[in-house]
Amino acid sequence: MHMFDLLACVCFALVPVAALSSDADILATANTKLSTIVSRSDQKYSCKCYPGDHCWPAADKWNALNTTVNGALRSVVPAAAVCHESFQGSPTYNAEACAEVNKNIHSESWWTDQPIETMWTYWSNNTCTPDSPKERPCTLGFSPSYVIMATEIAHIKAGIDFARQQNVRLIIRNTGHDFMGRSNGYGALAINTHKFKDISFTGSYAGPGDWKGGAVTVGAGVQLRELYTAAHSRSPSVLVMGGECPTVGIAGGYIQGGGHGIMGTWFGMAADNALAFTAITAEGEYVTANANENADLFWALKGGGPASYAVITSLTLKTFPEMRAAGTILNINATHTNDSAVIWKGVEIFHSFANLYVDNGFFVYYELLGGSLHVQPFVAPNMDAAGIKAVLAPLFAALDAASIPYSTVTKDFSSVYDLYIDLFEDEPPYQNTYIGGRIFTRDDISSRNPEIINSYKVAAAPAPGYVGGIVGHIVGPGHNVSQADNAIHPAWRSASSFSIALLVVDRDVSLAQRQAAQDVLTHKTGDAMRAASPDGGAYVNEGDLNEPDWQRAYWGDKYPRLLELRRKWDPKGVFYARTTPGTEEWEVLEEGTRLCKRN
Ligand SMILES: Cc1cc2nc3c(=O)[nH]c(=O)nc-3n(C[C@H](O)[C@H](O)[C@H](O)COP(=O)(O)OP(=O)(O)OC[C@H]3O[C@@H](n4cnc5c(N)ncnc54)[C@H](O)[C@@H]3O)c2cc1C
Ligand SMILES: *[C@@H]1O[C@H](CO)[C@@H](O)[C@H](O)[C@H]1NC(C)=O
Ligand SMILES: *[C@@H]1O[C@H](CO)[C@@H](O)[C@H](O)[C@H]1NC(C)=O
Ligand SMILES: *[C@@H]1O[C@H](CO)[C@@H](O)[C@H](O)[C@H]1NC(C)=O
Ligand SMILES: *[C@@H]1O[C@H](CO)[C@@H](O)[C@H](O)[C@H]1NC(C)=O
Ligand SMILES: *[C@@H]1O[C@H](CO)[C@@H](O)[C@H](O)[C@H]1NC(C)=O
Repeated sequence: MHMFDLLACVCFALVPVAALSSDADILATANTKLSTIVSRSDQKYSCKCYPGDHCWPAADKWNALNTTVNGALRSVVPAAAVCHESFQGSPTYNAEACAEVNKNIHSESWWTDQPIETMWTYWSNNTCTPDSPKERPCTLGFSPSYVIMATEIAHIKAGIDFARQQNVRLIIRNTGHDFMGRSNGYGALAINTHKFKDISFTGSYAGPGDWKGGAVTVGAGVQLRELYTAAHSRSPSVLVMGGECPTVGIAGGYIQGGGHGIMGTWFGMAADNALAFTAITAEGEYVTANANENADLFWALKGGGPASYAVITSLTLKTFPEMRAAGTILNINATHTNDSAVIWKGVEIFHSFANLYVDNGFFVYYELLGGSLHVQPFVAPNMDAAGIKAVLAPLFAALDAASIPYSTVTKDFSSVYDLYIDLFEDEPPYQNTYIGGRIFTRDDISSRNPEIINSYKVAAAPAPGYVGGIVGHIVGPGHNVSQADNAIHPAWRSASSFSIALLVVDRDVSLAQRQAAQDVLTHKTGDAMRAASPDGGAYVNEGDLNEPDWQRAYWGDKYPRLLELRRKWDPKGVFYARTTPGTEEWEVLEEGTRLCKRN
């Protein structure tokens, strides 16, 4: 039993210190030895410890942690501090270093290699951006205070233990890709897992379960392109079920959210392909989770939500023989017509065939941004150019019949890997957008495609003064995997389309303007998407933080079991990521800073 257990319920009757909040309705704050009690109207909260609180660990505690992690602890300095005159009172401006940062802000790899930066900078509160005036002081905003640049598994354990014992907010930061800001948190201790790059293959998996085929074990920091490249260089080459973005991590948020991707219609979700994990629990225990050992944790880690049950240190996934593939690009844009009604009709026709694409094992990635339809690519595994053209013939016939102009290109590849390298484009980071999204089922496509397209139109222009778009995926993770025992939303099994909705927000806006934008996303775009998919669902990795009834929206009828498992594996709330199981009693108070639990 730890100190915090004993102190968790200390009474509230301590001397209130000066209000530290700009929230007018927080009436009093009191520091206990290991938590801060805050009272807001009639509600009392126990909060994590923050800089300035009595319970915030003193320098000797941080130094001791630093010794435990062999000097890998860093005070966080935002990467763009060099573009500002000062950070925390010290001069930081360096023109050359700032130019270097500005040169890199459109490179995904640069972002993922940083200690704590989050690619969707809204979640840092944009208080130290490289392109804002240098006179403006750089501050941490919503970023952690300290980060452990872990190079050994024991460093991860040390960070978890410290956060639990000192009641400090803990953030696991892998690549910083999280669209919803979950790899960032004000005043937190972050553990950076980026350096765990081991990849090892086996031709025949010998662990528990039915799978006797090939497998690969990856460290927590391995990113998709690294894994795909390693799999391709095997002899013979193998395939792994992963996502389309080259710099997303395979073993962090991606797998814990479920993970869709290029081979998803063949192999299901990434979570369907997980054979085993090694992890460290909230209590600091090293565990293995597979079909035999800690089977309940194994189940929850496969889609039950990021940063919720344990910190993953390695993941073992199935591998499959490589295969040929064909790909097609389709564009309908201003080079073809400026009549937006014609373009939208083209979108509707394209999307109406989603079930056909999935029935043929396809994955399709497309964008509806700036009034254009850009499908790049249709992926047809195990097919040649003639094969993909035959499957797509009804699409082109329907576009022709409706007099929709378009351009298209089809290519043949000797491997899925070659197709991936040639046809998938890196997405630009450093965007300031809110996102939401929706899983559409086969039935939605066959019964309600016009409503779906209407929700896309809403997403593109949800309210006066707002601009958005759609990043779409045609994928059918139930096509070839009808059952797999894990935590992903059951709606994925009948899905054939999953769309992310984007809403652009300016970098420099007030909290009220942000709230207004969030409401537009949730209640204009989101309502339209939900109405078009009564049996659909939402995806925790690419969803709306304000999703109504998020428990059901993200997990359907699997939620009650996940809640139970969260209470079992993280009973003290060491981990926290918004809209993950068991976080109902937690709130981030004081304008996005102080993480507190309702008493
Ligand atoms: C450009 C882009 C493309 C994408 N493409 C796809 C796609 O094709 N398919 C798809 O399904 N999703 C995709 N995503 C979404 C992606 O799955 C999520 O952003 C995911 O959270 C990224 O995980 P990460 O570990 O790389 O990122 P991070 O932001 O570092 O972490 C995300 C979450 O996971 C937690 N976490 C990280 N590592 C661990 C660990 N070892 N143990 C426990 N918790 C951990 C973090 O604390 C955080 O809550 C994409 C996102 C972007 C930005
Ligand atoms: C941790 O120790 C290393 C090596 O001694 C040092 O460089 C670093 O500044 C220390 N970190 C903190 C936060 O003091
Ligand atoms: C976050 O940004 C808002 C809007 O600029 C600002 O009012 C607030 O003080 C910032 N909070 C932190 C912790 O940076
Ligand atoms: C389904 O997956 C298996 C491999 O697990 C493969 O042999 C089969 O051809 C796939 N079928 C389709 C249509 O996706
Ligand atoms: C659409 O408008 C743009 C900008 O005016 C123009 O360059 C383009 O040629 C137009 N497209 C067509 C098909 O007329
Ligand atoms: C528009 O279509 C043309 C022709 O296929 C293509 O080259 C171009 O990249 C497309 N533009 C956009 C914005 O997708």
